[in-house]
Formats: sequence, structure tokens, C-alpha cells
Amino acid sequence: MRILVIGGTSGIGWALAEHYLNAGHDVAVCGRNIGKLKSEVTNKYTKLKKYALDITDKGMLISVVDDYARDTLDLVIVCAGFYFNNRHHTLDESTTLSMLQTNISGMNDTFLLCSKKMLQQKSGRLVAIASVAGLLKHYPSASLYSQTKRSVIQLCDAYRVALAPFTIAVTTIIPGYIDTEKLRELNQGDASKKPFLMREAQAVEKIVSAISNRKPIAIFPWQMRGVIFLMNLLPKWLLAIRF
Ligand SMILES: NC(=O)c1ccc[n+]([C@@H]2O[C@H](COP(=O)([O-])OP(=O)(O)OC[C@H]3O[C@@H](n4cnc5c(N)ncnc54)[C@H](OP(=O)(O)O)[C@@H]3O)[C@@H](O)[C@H]2O)c1
Repeated sequence: MRILVIGGTSGIGWALAEHYLNAGHDVAVCGRNIGKLKSEVTNKYTKLKKYALDITDKGMLISVVDDYARDTLDLVIVCAGFYFNNRHHTLDESTTLSMLQTNISGMNDTFLLCSKKMLQQKSGRLVAIASVAGLLKHYPSASLYSQTKRSVIQLCDAYRVALAPFTIAVTTIIPGYIDTEKLRELNQGDASKKPFLMREAQAVEKIVSAISNRKPIAIFPWQMRGVIFLMNLLPKWLLAIRF
């Protein structure tokens, strides 16, 4: 397969890229800072291609997709996402715009461009990483992130319906906490107190299985489904209280 991972320079994206490289596939990873990938790690992968890309820059995105998808494009995974610890940061104008552009417009632009290519070849799979935060009705302390991920879930639903007649599959990945470097960094180096924290390798297994089974939606870990169900029953004022 020829696979494009947008947001593949670290965390879940790079872990997925490594999985597919180890399985013998051609993989291109993109991110603003490809220097995060150390040559001692990447040199062993002859089928790896790297692109410097800011997903919020549509011109750059078009060139990357045009270049990599010149032959075929079997699978596109959008991992690029902007999140922070809302207990320590607040949104200002520029972070608000970045979050909207990265999490919503960037994902939509990628899906639109790649689906055009996949429609020509009459095959392909599109995948986006949302978050269980997007399933919450009220998430006052991280409401913008949560709403952007809700948008990802809904955009995926729209693409799934639109592309189903052309046998192009769309999978929405809806994870709870995954123990990535970024999550640790946002939690003073230790994310172990996050509820139902999942190891990166376990998350990769779940994501790869959902993609290969052409599952429309994958929510994990399973405990999070119950948590979300219960939290959605609670009144907004109760969720607004910080303990
Ligand atoms: N970890 C969790 O607990 C968790 C839970 C639910 C959902 N998620 C979602 O999973 C995704 C990956 O999270 P992660 O924990 O693996 O974090 P991460 O390591 O920060 O991964 C984010 C990736 O996106 C890239 N990226 C960010 N902004 C970009 C932009 N404007 N243009 C291009 N690439 C961009 C980053 O690379 P550069 O810095 O090189 O640009 C990086 O490769 C995110 O969408 C996140 O919201 C994570």
C-alpha cells in the first residue's frame, strides 16, 4: 500500500507509520517539523518519505498530495491535531485560529484533496483521528478542542456517506487517552493518572485493525464509552466545577 500520514512526525502518527513500514508498505509522513524524526531511527526505513508540511497551508498540502499521490494513494491518515492542557493554558486569538485551522480546515482540506485522487482511481481509505472529547455534549474546560473533534467526527460521517458508492472507506478513530510523548509533556512528564490510559502500541493495534476491517467508527478503550455516556447525562453546571 501507499500510505500518507499527515501529522506523522511524532506520537500516534509516527507509531502508525512505523507499523506500516515494518509491514513492508510505502509510507510518507508529514509535519511542520520533520527534524523531530531522528535519522538514526528513520534511516533503516528505505520505503519512508518525509515532507515538511503545515496542514493549515493549503498550497503546501496540494503540492504534497500531488507529489506523493502521483501513482496511487491507498490510505491517508490524518493525525495532525492541536491540543493543550487547558488547566495551564487559555485560548488567545492566535491559538484559537490555529486550533480551528489545524483540527477542522486542515483535516477537511486533506480529505477533499485525497478523495479527488481516490475517486479517479476508484479505491482508497481515509482515516481521521478524532477524540472521545468530541462525543461529550458539554466539556466546558476544553470546549473548543472538544468541538473541533466533534467536527472531525461529523465531517467523517459526511465523507463516508458521499464516498460509499465509490467504494472508498472512511474510518473515524475516537480514542480516549493515549500515552504519547505529547500527552506526557502536557502533564509534567507523566500521564499515568489519566483515566483508562492506553499504551501507544495498544492504540496502534486498535487503529490498524479498524482500518483493515474498514470499520466506520472505532471508539476505545471500551471503558470510555461508559464514561462518555454517564458524563452526557450530567448537567452542564456540574461539569463546569473543577475539583
Ligand atoms: N494522545 C492522546 O491522548 C489523544 C487522545 C485523543 C485524540 N488524540 C489526537 O491524536 C492526534 C495525535 O496526537 P498525539 O498525542 O500523537 O500528539 P503529537 O505527537 O503532538 O502528534 C501530532 C502530530 O501532528 C503534527 N501536526 C500538528 N500540527 C500540525 C500542522 N499544523 N501541520 C502538520 N502537522 C501538524 C505534529 O507534527 P509537527 O509538530 O512536526 O507539525 C505531530 O506529528 C491528535 O489529533 C490528537 O488530538 C490524542
